[in-house]
Amino acid sequence: MKEIYPGVYLTEGDRLATVNLAPGRRVYGERLIADGERELREWNPARSKLSAALLKGLKTLPIERKSSVLYLGAATGTTASHVSDIAAEGRVFSVESSVTPMSKLIEVCRDRENMIPILADANRPEVYAPLLEEVDVIYQDIAQRNQAEILLKNSDLYLKEGGHILLAVKSKSIDSTRKAGSVISDEVAKLKDLFRILEVVDLEPYEKDHAMIVAVKAP
Ligand SMILES: C[S@@+](CC[C@H](N)C(=O)[O-])C[C@H]1O[C@@H](n2cnc3c(N)ncnc32)[C@H](O)[C@@H]1O
Repeated sequence: MKEIYPGVYLTEGDRLATVNLAPGRRVYGERLIADGERELREWNPARSKLSAALLKGLKTLPIERKSSVLYLGAATGTTASHVSDIAAEGRVFSVESSVTPMSKLIEVCRDRENMIPILADANRPEVYAPLLEEVDVIYQDIAQRNQAEILLKNSDLYLKEGGHILLAVKSKSIDSTRKAGSVISDEVAKLKDLFRILEVVDLEPYEKDHAMIVAVKAP
């Protein structure tokens, strides 16, 4: 199986997969694939915007084996678990504000030593300061009107200089009356004071009116 990004493999059926940090365990019903001594988990682009972005040709995947990642909007851990597979010797601080997905997220974290569940509102990042260190990457997938503001607040407090962000933008959550391209351009513009934008990838056909933005924190 070919490794196309660090820790991300292309299967024979041209799907993505990551090495399962919790062999034998599924997170969302994904296919498990035996590969010699190890086991891979298929990474479904219809369930994960990061998988969709990679299949759409995202060039920069800033998450590495030892990365520490602040993941905002972890839900039940679908994408966060693949991030945990990739950052196998790092940490994935997984913030989720809703109690309903949190119980499933805690179960996923039980199987994975590098995943830490945090029940908190990402609008108030100061509340989780005692739980985390500065991170290499912030991944955010929060369908809120003020998603750029949330990312900027968290980056100010927790992202290392030279660290990366991956921001999944859903234009309809910001303004359902405007064209997606124009809403996404406005979100990119909001980031430019703190970040150098590296890539903006449209997630169609996997997700309508969504984009993934990758940027680096640079003065
Ligand atoms: C689109 S879902 C995330 C899906 C997930 N990233 C995945 O790919 O597996 C958005 C999640 O963000 C959470 N959320 C919304 N506002 C939030 C906030 N202010 N702080 C933390 N989580 C929030 C929601 O409860 C929801 O679970």
